Amino acid sequence: MTSSLKVLADSYYNIDSLEKYIDVYRISKQDPEDFWSTIATNNFHWRKTWDKVLEWDKKESKVEWFKNAKLNITENCIDRHLRTRGEKTAIIFEPNDPKEKAQHISYNELAQHVNRMANVLKNNGIKKGDKVCIYLPMIPALTYTMLACARIGAIHSVVFAGFSSKALSSRINDADCKLIVTADGSYRGSKTVDLKKIVDEALLDTPNLETCLVAKRIHDKVEWVEGRDKWLHEELMNASSECEAEEMDAEDPLFILYTSGSTGTPKGMVHTTAGYMVFTAFTFKNVFQYKNDDVYWCTADIGWITGHSYIVYGPLANGATTVMFEGVPSYPDYGRFWDVIDKHKVSQFYTAPTAIRALAKQDLSFVDEHDLSSLKILGSVGEPINEEAWHWYNDHIGKKKCPIVDTWWQTETGGIMISPIPYVTPTKPTYATLPIPGIQPVLMEANGVEIKGNQVDGKLCIAYPWPGMARTVYNNHERYKETYFSTFPGLYFTGDGALRDEVGYYRITGRVDDVVIVSGHNLGTAPIEDAINEHQAIAESAIVGFPHEIKGSALYGYVTLKDEGSKRDHDNLRKEINQLITAKIGPIAKLDKIQFVNSLPKTRSGKIMRRILRKIASRDTENMGDTSTLLNPDVVEEINKNVL
Ligand code: WTA
Repeated sequence: MTSSLKVLADSYYNIDSLEKYIDVYRISKQDPEDFWSTIATNNFHWRKTWDKVLEWDKKESKVEWFKNAKLNITENCIDRHLRTRGEKTAIIFEPNDPKEKAQHISYNELAQHVNRMANVLKNNGIKKGDKVCIYLPMIPALTYTMLACARIGAIHSVVFAGFSSKALSSRINDADCKLIVTADGSYRGSKTVDLKKIVDEALLDTPNLETCLVAKRIHDKVEWVEGRDKWLHEELMNASSECEAEEMDAEDPLFILYTSGSTGTPKGMVHTTAGYMVFTAFTFKNVFQYKNDDVYWCTADIGWITGHSYIVYGPLANGATTVMFEGVPSYPDYGRFWDVIDKHKVSQFYTAPTAIRALAKQDLSFVDEHDLSSLKILGSVGEPINEEAWHWYNDHIGKKKCPIVDTWWQTETGGIMISPIPYVTPTKPTYATLPIPGIQPVLMEANGVEIKGNQVDGKLCIAYPWPGMARTVYNNHERYKETYFSTFPGLYFTGDGALRDEVGYYRITGRVDDVVIVSGHNLGTAPIEDAINEHQAIAESAIVGFPHEIKGSALYGYVTLKDEGSKRDHDNLRKEINQLITAKIGPIAKLDKIQFVNSLPKTRSGKIMRRILRKIASRDTENMGDTSTLLNPDVVEEINKNVL
């Protein structure tokens, strides 16, 4: 890199004007390796720097960033801050019950908690490379455990604590976890959830899991398996608060996180250490324009990628203060989010459109009772934000003074890919706007031709590797290649459609595969169909998404019954179907509507034509498209006549 480029890129860790954005984007496109290496050199602590910035084997879809560099991500997220801001609050823990005192955990305290936890893991036989499952509510122990794994080089696999025991056991087995960290239970608004019981059921089915560490949260009685179960607080008492950080290779896995695919079982996306760190830190700094005294709050659950990247790693790598909220937006009332913003003087607030839509339906007095003047930036993530929700967020929460960053990204991308930079990129409702420097989006036609120019739409792909991308599907690199790199050879295919407007802004139009985003949760329809089809009265099923006022999309199931099922009461069957889904996957995958039909529309080759079912469920039947390849065109009319 020439020295003038280097000076430019150095000052660009924080992009604070449109001119800088345009310049730095150009630099990043001309020479992505030099761009990322400059960002990486100047803003992180390395034990040894890299021999090569990027190794890209296109044929094998194998990418390595910062080759042979050595580091530990916890030295970057914790240790390096201790000298300059040890007393600064790293985490504000806001409990479910507003009457319970919030905790302010400083960077010094965070270091001690993480080290102690790291020693607990070691004392329980966990070594570098071992996999640890984390099934915890949003309590500080969750963050401590993730960072403790990273400290000693263990790989964490966080499973969202709303998944069922079956979903949990299959994830434990797929990742071959040796140990699980859970809690006696969790609070959810006015209710409690018996987490330990769910874990006990899951562990009946996990032959290689040896140890279950249990955090005390709700102080209820729990069942105990001697030899396997241990109270976390007791283990912590015997553990030292000092623990050397393990030296990790840039490409050593940091974590596995499962995401739904359009077919088959969930995919364990593997994120590695250095690239993920550089990418989440850089995007956090820019998309939230974080300044030293800001209090930043992302409302996601850490069980999803948003929580991993933008509650834990991105903010802590920047020495930020990050809020961890245990509760729900509706408890004790619908003003809770606004109360927390007021209470902790939150400057950046990052949430999902589904939450915005639900809160926008409530009386405005829930908002107006609270002082929201601390807010500077609002964020949205997880699904397209509709125009109405965008305006409500802008008018009533941001008071028209806070730019909204509509951030598009995925579990697989590790961090934010397309987003405005607040106070830099002019925003436009429903548009994620422009790519982050280093990200090269392209739109493709189904036939594999790139669509150039503006005012076009197509399938969204990324043309060049970026440091935060998932490297593989755990234990199944073929599936990684097939899912992401085979549709358009050489390009990463996102599964989303997008349009590019007259100035080059991107708007994400939604999934173009069989994944449905329900309340911001990514759900593959195939595993839900598999779950339903296990019901003895059911012959076949097809699930599609349809527009829903609050959830964005909801699930619609078309079900055919076996002879024995045809005599059954439909409402009872509907209940049983949703019970089955809750048991196999979790309540988030329940169907909103279930229509019993005589048969499903199929092509001559026997494939269910979901495109038509999607249109019927969405009441968008004016143009059904080509139905000439259907084996049984009559059923379409019948299904449409009885649509729910
Ligand atoms: C969707 C969440 C429109 C998209 C970080 C993507 C969005 C999927 C947006 C990934 C957005 C996420 N606008 N759609 N701003 N953000 N999506 O893996 O369909 O849980 O492919 O990652 O959510 O969901 P995931």
